Amino acid sequence: MSVKEQTYIMVKPDGVMRSIVGEIIKRFETKGYKLVALKMAVPSREHLEKHYEDLNGRPFFAGLINYMASGPVVCMVWEGRNVVLEGRKMLGATKPSESALGTIRGDFCIDVGRNVCHGSDAVESAQKEIALWFPEGLCEYEKPTVSWVY
Ligand code: TYD
Repeated sequence: MSVKEQTYIMVKPDGVMRSIVGEIIKRFETKGYKLVALKMAVPSREHLEKHYEDLNGRPFFAGLINYMASGPVVCMVWEGRNVVLEGRKMLGATKPSESALGTIRGDFCIDVGRNVCHGSDAVESAQKEIALWFPEGLCEYEKPTVSWVY
């Protein structure tokens, strides 16, 4: 569990359309994680099929790709101790009906087919997803620490 652990978080098209991009960024930022990459993109179907390749063959796959290709997404990489697992906790369960209130999905959505955000489910998948969405690389920088912030 490295302090440099990274996860791929993506606001899905419904999250962008509903103007909750800032809310999602705010939750990761105020939790204490470090933003190391951020961009908006309209992904191609091929790109999305690669991102979700493990789900190919599931009955909801075609609908998922249509939805994800329906508009822009906001792609981010967040860094910090245990961020993959903590990020999944912050997102909440896949099905909003099972997501606890206080989580992003629990607070902002109702339908599994419109669950506003994606977060990597393991360190290995995070590495794969980061390479897929950010082939240009991430932003490396140090945050200054000051003695009066506790
Ligand atoms: P999955 O990888 O199982 O969940 P998560 O996004 O929490 O890692 O599924 C990917 C997306 O597929 C999920 O966020 C929403 C969609 N999906 C459905 O539309 N119907 C379903 O029954 C499931 C399981 C997922």
